[in-house]
Amino acid sequence: MKITVTAKEGMSVKADILALPLTAKELKKELPGVLQGLGIDKGASGDFNGSAGDILVLYRTSSGKGASRIALLGLGDATTNDDYRKAANAIAHKASDMHLGVVAIDCSKIGEWSKHLRRNPEYLAGLLGEGLLHGAYRFHRLKSGKLDKEKKKEAGTPTTVNEFFLAGCGEHYSSIEKGVASGAIVGISQNMSRDLVNLPCNHLSAEDLAEAAREAGRKGGFDVKVFDRKKITELGMGGLLAVNQGSKEPPTFTILDYQPKGKSKKTVALVGKGVTFDSGGISIKPAQGMDEMKSDMSGAACVIGTVEAAALLGLPIRVIGIIPATDNMPGGSAMKPGDIITTMSGITVDVGNTDAEGRLILADALTYAKREYDPDVIIDLATLTGACVVALGYAAAGLFSNDDDLADDLYRAGQSSGEKVWRMPLWNEYDELIKSDVADLSNTGGRWGGAITAAKFLEKFIDGHKSWAHVDIAGPAFLAKGGGKTPGGTGFGVRLLVDLLKGWA
Ligand code: BES
Ligand code: MN
Ligand code: ZN
Repeated sequence: MKITVTAKEGMSVKADILALPLTAKELKKELPGVLQGLGIDKGASGDFNGSAGDILVLYRTSSGKGASRIALLGLGDATTNDDYRKAANAIAHKASDMHLGVVAIDCSKIGEWSKHLRRNPEYLAGLLGEGLLHGAYRFHRLKSGKLDKEKKKEAGTPTTVNEFFLAGCGEHYSSIEKGVASGAIVGISQNMSRDLVNLPCNHLSAEDLAEAAREAGRKGGFDVKVFDRKKITELGMGGLLAVNQGSKEPPTFTILDYQPKGKSKKTVALVGKGVTFDSGGISIKPAQGMDEMKSDMSGAACVIGTVEAAALLGLPIRVIGIIPATDNMPGGSAMKPGDIITTMSGITVDVGNTDAEGRLILADALTYAKREYDPDVIIDLATLTGACVVALGYAAAGLFSNDDDLADDLYRAGQSSGEKVWRMPLWNEYDELIKSDVADLSNTGGRWGGAITAAKFLEKFIDGHKSWAHVDIAGPAFLAKGGGKTPGGTGFGVRLLVDLLKGWA
């Protein structure tokens, strides 16, 4: 997938479809004229409302230069990041569904859009770049294509868009180029994260996840260290080892370390839950929907994508990614409900439920992050609780933090990146619920407030760190089939964290 910026106007680009973005205001004033100019009945405009991401595909009768398909593309009010991201996402999604290889987008009005948005064309072009790559993403790598032969129509047609042209960029050419390049970095890193989430456990073990981190390190030019079972045992990571006990696959513990060339403004540790498959263990999950638990390493995928993007963007912040990884399986040697384990911190945990495994591996990772790096900020991301999905659905992640400024920054980054977070409490009242009669803590907090008791559990392992946030991404990390959006991994968190880091740069 490639995005090319050109000064050529839309109609002179050789493309399968040309998108004409329109704001809701322009719709009324200009649409009839535009359609007439293209030789299209102006009655067609009735099928188009111009809201952000609304699309109407039209076919020109007059031949000659230019694409034969025209897409009217709604920008809505054209005043928010979401308006532009949605529009770009929608046209890329539509063109991919239509198996169109080359898409041109008329950006000659980017100067005006920039005024509506109150951001410069570079920033706006970044939004378009991110949106286009997000919308064109498809997970096809495990389709052999062997059964598609009879479908002559599909043979040789692209599965997704190969090239986008941003046309009519004469006036702001270089700032658009710059913006698109940085938007594409984020888009590509996020799509890499989505691939990791979509790969099932038989294609992505803990060792494969570590290898993906190494690959990101090669691409971004940063250090990656991987600890194997021996080293994990030496370090006393009792949480990670306990979860791994029932598995045939060894655990891994991976550290990604991006250090900027010049002076670093902050050191940020990002911790990501890397459960490559969560069967629940001995407290086994019901069969229905269990396949979706291949996505239980979405936090880890997000961390890899974010460190990669931060490195490629050259942000002036040291970003350390920390990934404890294993599957959670009910093998003969699996940990059992009632077991009491000793975590790396020395804190003992009564395992009330083996399906509350995420907090056990994160406990060790948080201890390691604080002890080894004492970073300015620690943020963990995890598909941690079904309770968080009950509370917030798929549209937002749960946010927990002991630092109001960090929480505010994350909230703002959520609004501007479109990956929204909503704060929930860490009040002491909830401590009662995770007490155990036989150990320092229980890993289950009972039926109510499950997202909060999970966060309270993690809080015990930050060892008094003053600026920590936990983001429960169980809802937005993965979309089951349907709903018009691309199903599967969303890469949630990459845009959120890159936005946050950029704000600190
Ligand atoms: N990975 C799950 C949480 C989850 C549920 C993620 C749905 C995405 C969608 C986690 O390991 C889990 O099983 N949590 C339990 C905790 C409970 C046993 C205390 C849960 O939420 O039911
Ligand atoms: Mn679980
Ligand atoms: Zn889990």
